[in-house]
Amino acid sequence: MLSTRSLFDQIYRNDEAYQLFCSIAAGGEDQGGWENERIEALTTDPVLAPKIARHGADERKHGRIFTQLLHKRGLEKVAVPAAADYCMLLERQGIGLAHERLRSEVPLTEREIVIYLVHSRVTEQRASEQMRQLVKAYGDNPDLARAMRMISADEDNHLAYCHEELLRLAAAGHGPYIRHALAHTAKGEIRTHRDVGLAVSAAMARILRWPRWQLAVVMAGLWALYLYDSVIGWRRMVRLRMPERRNALGAPAPPHAEHGF
Ligand SMILES: [Fe+2]
Ligand SMILES: [Fe+2]
Repeated sequence: MLSTRSLFDQIYRNDEAYQLFCSIAAGGEDQGGWENERIEALTTDPVLAPKIARHGADERKHGRIFTQLLHKRGLEKVAVPAAADYCMLLERQGIGLAHERLRSEVPLTEREIVIYLVHSRVTEQRASEQMRQLVKAYGDNPDLARAMRMISADEDNHLAYCHEELLRLAAAGHGPYIRHALAHTAKGEIRTHRDVGLAVSAAMARILRWPRWQLAVVMAGLWALYLYDSVIGWRRMVRLRMPERRNALGAPAPPHAEHGF
């Protein structure tokens, strides 16, 4: 039967598919780590800066975990195909802070901090949902279960942090701009998620020699999710709710937490 679990199992059992999967994941995490490091460097807010540093340290740790998972299998990272490069595709649409901007040394304005948090609010929602899916798919896999659980818990914390900080900025008078930016960002993310999903599925179909019907079923599922997200699902990406866990990124990252994967 074609289930999400069986698809992830096929990917895990094939070296080339697993190599692509872990490389795409590691690439996205490293990119997120770099963005947060730059944002921290350009932040003048002494309360927010250590939280952004923690956010960046977590993403770097996730990048190292996916790289270690590859090494454990005797594999190296491969280049991420442009059509599957989620971070780059978002940036090209003007979502989040441009990399050119982050390479400068000019401190970020409060509005740019809002843009960073809005981008994170939406992409961390996706990361949190995807990691929950991976915990379900690989929860019994002795090689992957612990790593997936650790990353999933971190992504939940990142999402909680975004809610809390955006609510704080909304209370400080940024509410209308935050709402506008969230709607724009969610729409772009939903499109990008669809496009990346289609590109990755086409690559997996080639590597795993899926019959044509199987690729058609997977693509139909991605289009169905896109339609759902466009009509109803986008609301979950723009809502702001005070999280149960406050100050989720309040402590610095524990050193070498990823060892042993
Ligand atoms: Fe991450
Ligand atoms: Fe994250």
